[in-house]
Amino acid sequence: MHDQLQHDVLIIGSGAAGLSLAIKLADHTNVAVLSKEALIEGATLYAQGGVSAVLDEQDSIESHVEDTLTAGAGLCDPEIVRFVVERAHKSIDWLVNQGVDFTRSDETAGSNSPFHLHKEGGHSHRRIIHAADATGKEIETTLEACVRSHPNIDLFEHHIAVDLITAQKLGKSNDRCLGAYVLDVINNNINVFSARNVILATGGAGKAYLYTSNPDGCTGDGIAMAKRAGCRIANMEFIQFHPTCLYHPLAKSFLISEALRGEGAKLILENGDRFMHRYDSREELAPRDIVARAIDYEMKRLGHDCVYLDISHKSKGFIEQHFPTINKRCLELGFDMSFEPIPVVPAAHYTCGGVMINQNGQTDIPGLYAIGEVSSSGLHGANRMASNSLLECIVFAHAAFKHIRQSLAATNMPEKLPEWDESRVTDSDEEVVVSHNWDEIRRFMWDYVGIVRTTKRLQRAQNRIKLLKTEVTDYYGNFRISKDLVELRNLLLVAELIVESALRRKESRGLHYTVDFPVADTTDTAANTIIESIPSNDGHAAA
Ligand code: FAD
Ligand code: SIN
Repeated sequence: MHDQLQHDVLIIGSGAAGLSLAIKLADHTNVAVLSKEALIEGATLYAQGGVSAVLDEQDSIESHVEDTLTAGAGLCDPEIVRFVVERAHKSIDWLVNQGVDFTRSDETAGSNSPFHLHKEGGHSHRRIIHAADATGKEIETTLEACVRSHPNIDLFEHHIAVDLITAQKLGKSNDRCLGAYVLDVINNNINVFSARNVILATGGAGKAYLYTSNPDGCTGDGIAMAKRAGCRIANMEFIQFHPTCLYHPLAKSFLISEALRGEGAKLILENGDRFMHRYDSREELAPRDIVARAIDYEMKRLGHDCVYLDISHKSKGFIEQHFPTINKRCLELGFDMSFEPIPVVPAAHYTCGGVMINQNGQTDIPGLYAIGEVSSSGLHGANRMASNSLLECIVFAHAAFKHIRQSLAATNMPEKLPEWDESRVTDSDEEVVVSHNWDEIRRFMWDYVGIVRTTKRLQRAQNRIKLLKTEVTDYYGNFRISKDLVELRNLLLVAELIVESALRRKESRGLHYTVDFPVADTTDTAANTIIESIPSNDGHAAA
């Protein structure tokens, strides 16, 4: 059975960005929220450190702006940085009003804010508001409670958007986003969702890499859908590697928050020697690109599998109070942080590039918005500063809300949209192709498109992508789709965008470091890498 569902607004994604927008819109209009897994699953749920905002009298907007620009290595849009930073305090107030319970200040805090503030890499002040070390869980579950009880919000869990439906794809002259084809993963149906406005809030693409802090769903679906629909995609070479994920065979994706380094934790080698002073005067609190590269260099230089993070100068009580989640997980795996260093390695963490948007969250296609990690707003430039991304989710949810609300009355509901065409496909007889190709992409992306790149390695990755593309396109065109196949197709396109962007950048800047062009190009003004798109309509999408 195939359903046609109509809503004023269709939000694809239920992380901090999608849920914030849904809550803001729902008092004015009806909203559908899609989630490809359970509602709360996504990067937001796992965020540890917190949300950056100027909340202390000693701190200033100027300083937050300056730190963000410095981390972004010449590619932030200064207007957007100021736009976001100036709205941080209000965004925190909004979260508190929804019921988010941030950790309160205590006598050890050293600030005059009512909230306890952490410090993280690149920040010159304590400005990270948090809920102990599980800030994302507190935000996500609070927002979840709000959307579940709102009569104007229809929630569709385990529904994965496959492709956007646009007027141009349907052969009309005036382009507009009209809806999406959506796979109901439980019932195995493809439904047509139509809406006056569609929002991509689908998060990042860390799963393109073998080692990542990201949960399984971070496969870059929104970036891939937007690319196929004809949006420009920017700065995909800037994949952020978090310096410290726990190194243990059972610690899949487990992050050790930068907030530990903010509380004085030191990076050391197996023999106990510190090394960060050799790379940057800010040592452990240098921006992430510098710390991750230093660790990578030391591991390769010594042939070691990991380095260590030592916070044993802090008492057991302090660690239990400030880092209960991390402490619990470490204890489960046999490490007691209060008296021994813990093994850590860098892992893919954040997608700085994405779908190009303006200050309202609008993409190149009328009626299509992108907010949160899926987008490239100009805030992060060549390297995101820690804890600026949850902030970006809330600020752009509000910006998109304002724009959508004011334009809704002038927008018509699309007419009936064409059904998904399954007339030429059969059930897959070789699911192994999907799992094999998925593994292969993630491995060569890690080996050839990681923290340190070379042109030769990037070209190797490009060659692999070309071969896989033929295979996956063929498979996609001939078999009934599954969630795994949809994600594989997206992951491959995202990998292609990362590699193509990395090859185009003939310099090292921020998170993109290549041995062949080891310094930043100072002869030209720094420029974004922008990949233009031609709408494509392959496979089953009816036109
Ligand atoms: P997500 O929270 O990832 O949500 C994406 C949503 O989209 C999910 O609901 C998913 O199901 C849905 N979705 C995706 N594709 C589809 C599809 N095709 N169809 C339907 N639904 C789809 N940032 C900070 O600022 N501070 C931190 O302390 C911090 N810590 C972090 C710790 C970890 C371990 C990780 C992984 C990230 C951390 N980050 C942090 C980054 C931050 O958490 C993310 O950038 C942010 O949560 C992204 O929110 P989002 O709403 O854009 O996407
Ligand atoms: C962390 O807690 O280290 C993650 C913060 C972030 O990614 O912004």
